[in-house]
Amino acid sequence: MSADLLEAGPLLADPARLWFREECGSTNDEARALGEAGVGSGAVIVAQRQTAGRGRRGAAWIAPEGEALAFSVLLRPQAPRGTWSRLALAAGLAVADAIEELGLTARIKWPNDVWIAGRKVCGILVEAGDAFAIVGIGINVNVQAFPESLAASATSLRLERGTPVARGAFLAAVVNRLLQRAADIGGNFESVRAAVETRCALRGMAVSLETPEGTLTGIARGIGAGGELLINDGHGTRAVVQAHEVRLL
Ligand code: BTN
Repeated sequence: MSADLLEAGPLLADPARLWFREECGSTNDEARALGEAGVGSGAVIVAQRQTAGRGRRGAAWIAPEGEALAFSVLLRPQAPRGTWSRLALAAGLAVADAIEELGLTARIKWPNDVWIAGRKVCGILVEAGDAFAIVGIGINVNVQAFPESLAASATSLRLERGTPVARGAFLAAVVNRLLQRAADIGGNFESVRAAVETRCALRGMAVSLETPEGTLTGIARGIGAGGELLINDGHGTRAVVQAHEVRLL
């Protein structure tokens, strides 16, 4: 395990606990196994290498070993299960805030990505088990080059900042913030919603969304009371709960 990742342990706030994997399929699956074994909320699994890292809609998530961060946080939210999808926004906020601590400007692309200057730096995959949620986070920390297919749409903290970022310290910064924000997805969600709205990458933009009800095109107006994306489609404002794809027009 790289020494820079091990630095995360002492920096984590209670009750976060770190589990390292030199190699695994997906840290989300490792977190699920821990959840099923009864491990408590706040367990963090970080892998040096994922052999079957996955993104949303079954896409593969591939990250160069030693340059990126791939980890999953096991949570046992007190809030009702119907609010757990808000964990994606809580996680995006945690990542965006940690990035801003580095002196960069980050934006949350509803519902699951974090962008810097219009390029993706982080993807988030929230999954649920019987009595727990898993927040999987992939961050392009020190990635120095992307494949041609991603070069125009992806970036890394290192490319944006011009200097490498200590991965362990950054991991701890994100996890500590996530644990705080995750506690607010129920009754205190307004604090999360408002903070996400100020960092909303889509606000004021023309977008096209693939939703379970069909394609919706309009201007993104912000984040609704429950974490929905508000879209003005010319007839009024609609609150979109779920979208498979969000494209800028
Ligand atoms: C996306 O952008 O589609 C979400 C990507 C999520 C990737 C992370 S890496 C850690 C965790 N383990 C996985 O297999 N996926 C998530």
